[in-house]
Amino acid sequence: MRIAEFKLERYFARWEFEAKLLLGSSDADSFGLEELLTLADDDSRQLWHDMRFGYTESPGHPVLRATIAGLYDGISADEVLVFAGAEEAIFTFANVALGAGDHAVVMWPAYQSLHETARAAGADVSLLRLRYQKAWALDPDELSSLVKPTTACVVFNIPHNPTGAIPERGAFDAAVALCERAGARLFVDEVYRYGELDIKHRLPAACEASPTAVSLGGLAKPFGLAGLRIGWIATKDRTLLTRMAAFKDYLTICSSAPSELLAIAALRARDRVLARNRAIALSNLSLLDDLFARRPKDLEWVRPPSWPIGFPRLLRPEPIEEFSARLVERTGVMIAPETIFDHRGNHFRIGFGRRDMPVALGRFEAFLDA
Ligand SMILES: Cc1ncc(COP(=O)(O)O)c(C=O)c1O
Repeated sequence: MRIAEFKLERYFARWEFEAKLLLGSSDADSFGLEELLTLADDDSRQLWHDMRFGYTESPGHPVLRATIAGLYDGISADEVLVFAGAEEAIFTFANVALGAGDHAVVMWPAYQSLHETARAAGADVSLLRLRYQKAWALDPDELSSLVKPTTACVVFNIPHNPTGAIPERGAFDAAVALCERAGARLFVDEVYRYGELDIKHRLPAACEASPTAVSLGGLAKPFGLAGLRIGWIATKDRTLLTRMAAFKDYLTICSSAPSELLAIAALRARDRVLARNRAIALSNLSLLDDLFARRPKDLEWVRPPSWPIGFPRLLRPEPIEEFSARLVERTGVMIAPETIFDHRGNHFRIGFGRRDMPVALGRFEAFLDA
């Protein structure tokens, strides 16, 4: 199998643990073990204390699957499959659902694996562009122009990385209907779900919207639990789930026992977990609002309707790649330049989920002044 280098992950491998301050990360501030266990209910804490380090059930711990199923309307535990992070699920899905002769449409700019794994699986990929000039809106007519008889899959990411965008409900419904008419399976990467600033903007999960559609979930982003490496697939299409479970036997086989149990605790305490992270992000967002108001000649953005990421534009003539390199080398602050998404327009991803963001932002602005 040939697969192109994952530019974003290579960039993070270079800087994530070297830069002093991360202003380009897409996750919420992480939890420590004690902090998470303090939020856990008695049952979850008991499961944690009784843990054994044997293999776990390959589709996922039954309690975890049931807890995940409870996040959706009309989904049962049997319609959930647990993975070692959302990334493993993306790779598995592409290899099971796509092959030579298939066509896929993938929302773009994108977390690269959403289109790269499809290409590596042999599919012909068309990119459905979200445009800054259109406030990163989903255009169902443009989707319609890309769909053809061989389109096996349409891949969205909602809320969207790197822009934080969420489609209008009407556009989403039109896209779902279009996929059903075309016989194309809709796969929605929903790892930023629960980051909607206003609950009114939360769309139905894909697995609720259509019987063949697939929802991808995970604990890395608004939950702030990336190191647990827990992601999942939810779909009413049991045939697809069976095939994905069989493919996973060649990857991690089963998830990590401690991670599954901590994931149960976190999901059961999700209101408090998310409230803690949302409060940090909202306070950071108001600092960003002030920054954009103060510096209209340097920066502009479409204010994201979700936390914790957005995709501003640097209005100076310096290419963003060079600006980002000078920024991290001189100040220790890392942003994520658009080049890691192959995007052109002098944008960068900013992450506002971390507690130390005000310090990072202060250094960022001082760098602009210098
Ligand atoms: C859109 C999107 N999907 C999936 C992932 C991978 O998530 P995980 O860390 O759970 O593998 C990321 C991580 O950045 C992401 O941004």
